Amino acid sequence: MSSAIQTKRDVINAILAGKPARWEHGKAVDVYAPANIALVKYWGKRNSELNLPVTSSFSVSLGALGSRINMAREEEAGVKQDTIILNGAPLAADSSFTKRASAYLDLFRPEPDFYFRMETQNTIPTAAGFASSASGFAALAKAVNVLFAFNLSNRELSILARLGSGSAARSLWDGFVEWQAGTQDDGMDSHGDPFEAAWPEFRMGALVISAAEKPVGSREGMQRCVDHCRFYEQWPRRVADDIRHIKACIQNHDFPQCGKLAEENALAMHALMIATQPPLLYWLPESVAAMQKVWTLRQDGLPVWFTMDAGPNLKLLFEQKDEAAIHAEFPGLHIVAPFLT
Ligand code: PMV
Repeated sequence: MSSAIQTKRDVINAILAGKPARWEHGKAVDVYAPANIALVKYWGKRNSELNLPVTSSFSVSLGALGSRINMAREEEAGVKQDTIILNGAPLAADSSFTKRASAYLDLFRPEPDFYFRMETQNTIPTAAGFASSASGFAALAKAVNVLFAFNLSNRELSILARLGSGSAARSLWDGFVEWQAGTQDDGMDSHGDPFEAAWPEFRMGALVISAAEKPVGSREGMQRCVDHCRFYEQWPRRVADDIRHIKACIQNHDFPQCGKLAEENALAMHALMIATQPPLLYWLPESVAAMQKVWTLRQDGLPVWFTMDAGPNLKLLFEQKDEAAIHAEFPGLHIVAPFLT
């Protein structure tokens, strides 16, 4: 019954009912999930315990940029905490990464004194400005699934990944993914679904303005908008329209329309942020200069658009045919071809 499911643990119990954890021979080796960037954004929760969104959202996964995890039970005698190694370096137990990962792993410990040994490698260059929490939690959910032989479907894993970070619900698939907002209180209908369409010429370029940690995280930022932005009530309809339209553009391989929709959607999200109290302005002066450069280039005939998340960096959107011209304009750009993996 949906009303009985209110906490993360309730969700896990419901999904794992009748699936005992078996780890006797367990080791999760080289489990991978890609990062993703939303073309139609997720901004606002209807339930913050379960990370249930107000709206659906639509993303593209970044292929070879993502998180890779090896996981096993910590066998070392006397160790009473998870061992977490990030990009080859053991992390302190009180680092924010370890705390967040261990709090998530708490949901899956089959016995109170079960500790995990987890090595995670981000193939996303840290300075590239692509967030790694989505791929990290998706890879974590997949690794737990392998370690305990739960045999869960990608949809179920998407629900589990969502409990770690909302946007992680979209990182279970390559290519385009729609995260359905769902309507149920228990969120069992709020998961990703692949949108089957390949677009080999699709390119995204990370334009890094600053790799510093953002002052207001997305959890706090989106809640502030839901509570204090007077225009927020217009956002859900906008997103529903944008998702419908972007799917049509993708099916028609209409890049200019696709880029336009993604850019306008991102700017609409930032408009909500700016119009909230106290205002949330993630842009730096260099972000604005980069946006203006994109607009000027477009006016001069170069088909390039951008999207932005809750931070100062831009992700440029363009097609393969314009790669050289874009590279000449933005020499440091880290270019990703999401459909050429
Ligand atoms: O999943 P979170 O809590 O990091 O939120 C992600 C929010 C945005 O990146 C701004 C938008 C999105 O859909 O990814």
